[in-house]
Amino acid sequence: MLKKMLFHWKSWWKSVYKQNHFVLKLGFSIFLVGLAFRLLFSRSDVISEVQETPFVQKILFSPPPVSFSLPEVADQIGPEEQAGMCNLFIGDWIPDPAGPVYTNETCKFIEDHQNCMKNGRPDNGYLYWRWNPRNCKLPRFNPLKFLQFMRNKTWALIGDSISRNHVQSFLCILSKVEEAVEVYHDKEYRCRRWLFPSYNLTVSVIWSPFLAKADIFEDYNGVSTSEIELHIDKLDTSWTDQFKDFDYMIFASGEWYVKTAIYYENDTVLGCHYCPKKNFTELGFNFAYRKVLGNVFNYILSSNHKGMIFFRTATPDHFENGEWFSGGSCKRTKPVKEGNFSLSEVNKILHEIELEEIGKATAKASEKGLNLKLFDVTSLSLMRPDGHPGPYRHFQPFAKDKNAKVINDCLHWCLPGPIDAWNDLLMEMVLNGQ
Ligand SMILES: *[C@@H]1O[C@H](CO)[C@@H](O)[C@H](O)[C@H]1NC(C)=O
Ligand SMILES: *[C@@H]1O[C@H](CO)[C@@H](O)[C@H](O)[C@H]1NC(C)=O
Ligand SMILES: *[C@@H]1O[C@H](CO)[C@@H](O)[C@H](O)[C@H]1NC(C)=O
Ligand SMILES: *[C@@H]1O[C@H](CO)[C@@H](O)[C@H](O)[C@H]1NC(C)=O
Ligand SMILES: *[C@@H]1O[C@H](CO)[C@@H](O)[C@H](O)[C@H]1NC(C)=O
Ligand SMILES: *[C@@H]1O[C@H](CO)[C@@H](O)[C@H](O)[C@H]1NC(C)=O
Repeated sequence: MLKKMLFHWKSWWKSVYKQNHFVLKLGFSIFLVGLAFRLLFSRSDVISEVQETPFVQKILFSPPPVSFSLPEVADQIGPEEQAGMCNLFIGDWIPDPAGPVYTNETCKFIEDHQNCMKNGRPDNGYLYWRWNPRNCKLPRFNPLKFLQFMRNKTWALIGDSISRNHVQSFLCILSKVEEAVEVYHDKEYRCRRWLFPSYNLTVSVIWSPFLAKADIFEDYNGVSTSEIELHIDKLDTSWTDQFKDFDYMIFASGEWYVKTAIYYENDTVLGCHYCPKKNFTELGFNFAYRKVLGNVFNYILSSNHKGMIFFRTATPDHFENGEWFSGGSCKRTKPVKEGNFSLSEVNKILHEIELEEIGKATAKASEKGLNLKLFDVTSLSLMRPDGHPGPYRHFQPFAKDKNAKVINDCLHWCLPGPIDAWNDLLMEMVLNGQ
């Protein structure tokens, strides 16, 4: 039945389209995430809409993952909240007249695509907010105290371009006390390491969008020449090789899983996600993500790691009034209240898998004396539709033509911006063992 469906996916899609509005919504969500990748990882300054067309068609007119089931909305209220205790990730964004601790003038680590100030974003109200957990106090990140505490320590952020976005915020804040010095980068500047010399603290960012072994066939514009080959049973050696050298690690993944990929196990094809032209079983991205996260956590659990390991959940995009290719944008200038923005179906699925897999792992970790922590920024990020570069991914996009047609980036985060608050949260978790 399943195979038949896949072979006749066109007519199947038509009938589903008529019957099931949800599938349509899912299609669009997947589409959005798909776009996000192009924005995320392409290095060209112009993303051609023409180039995108085949990709768009592929996503919109392919069947959704068959093995997919709609998760319940994650139940975020744990026993601590019932007892009135502190959950750092439940709260509100409140006005903060103090504003950011660094600017485009004082920090040299901000990547051009996220340097909204330099690129001419006209409003700055989005800078004057801080995250306020409902049942606890969250102090501002104190870079001096942090550096003193982190003498001789090694940190690593492992994941995709959102991890890169985060490391820049981290470096900008710490560099208020002492400027970081780059001590390593790979050819493509995807894996890098910095040192804070007086404190002998090193901070690395490791490019590993799947956390598992993946062969990716994409050019600089993010145009793929072949499907990604993802080995769901093999972890990415770019981080496992260095795992024992790091005292603190922040893992993150998710978004790349929505892309077309062929899944391998024991070096043989097991199935795929979105490959209608190939005669492989559609397994769904949720299958692969769950499997790989399970493997990542098993790897961590079987180590005797003495430091602290965080898993950061995937963050949502905020395209409104269209999709990224049809004029969708993120023009808001203020945070929203909880519930004003809803999580896309794709992000709900990713988040649900993350919570389930880390939930299982943290239970075992505490038995073993490992320090594994959930860093659940999905909901607080969802309330910040105002925090993305939008058109200001590029320098002065409207300088020549104020009606210029530009593609918006509603996925990455302006720096300074909302993700600076992630460091307040990290500091609290590290120093006060939350
Ligand atoms: C920083 O941004 C301001 C606009 O907010 C701009 O005038 C200035 O040139 C930028 N400086 C740098 C070094 O990018
Ligand atoms: C850092 O390492 C150096 C050299 O190994 C050592 O002398 C020093 O005591 C260490 N400091 C801390 C705070 O661990
Ligand atoms: C710096 O820290 C590393 C551990 O991260 C340690 O091995 C090394 O000895 C330290 N170096 C100095 C000069 O303190
Ligand atoms: C891969 O190997 C493992 C262990 O040998 C086995 O359990 C599993 O079924 C194999 N998977 C495939 C798809 O061959
Ligand atoms: C597709 O795969 C099935 C089972 O693996 C096989 O029986 C069938 O012949 C294949 N079809 C084509 C067109 O290769
Ligand atoms: C969200 O906020 C916007 C702007 O304030 C408002 O127009 C919209 O109705 C709100 N939507 C929901 C679901 O609360």
